[in-house]
Amino acid sequence: MRPHPRIVGFLGRALSHEFLAVQQYLVQSRLCALWGWKDWAESFAQESREELTHAGLLSDQLLRYGIAPSAGTLRPSRPGRDLREMLEQDREIEWSAVELYAEAQLACERLRDESSAALFAMLLEDERGHLTHLDELLVGLGG
Ligand SMILES: [Fe+2]
Ligand SMILES: [Fe+2]
Repeated sequence: MRPHPRIVGFLGRALSHEFLAVQQYLVQSRLCALWGWKDWAESFAQESREELTHAGLLSDQLLRYGIAPSAGTLRPSRPGRDLREMLEQDREIEWSAVELYAEAQLACERLRDESSAALFAMLLEDERGHLTHLDELLVGLGG
């Protein structure tokens, strides 16, 4: 099936977004490791791996359509200067993922591309989970 150009556009934007998240969490993980915060380093590394899995799923979908996946130019990472700032920066990234994937899912449904709609629905659920997780961590920090 030849995908609608709007869907190809959403898949490309989503892929860039996932690589941005991979980079963000990876940098935070390395920073925490440098500061000697082993548990946080592992926690951010785990997030980075999850986002990489998402990037893989989006790449699969583009490849199915005969399109070579390309993330384009990534915005610089914003790791934050302390834990609260880190989590707040991540929250911003997860929130924009939720907005993007909700819009993408709707567009795919309207254009009757069921497999892309299902992929965006799955990603949307995961990113909402990430957002909830970050909210819990921020509440745990207090203030
Ligand atoms: Fe993701
Ligand atoms: Fe995420």
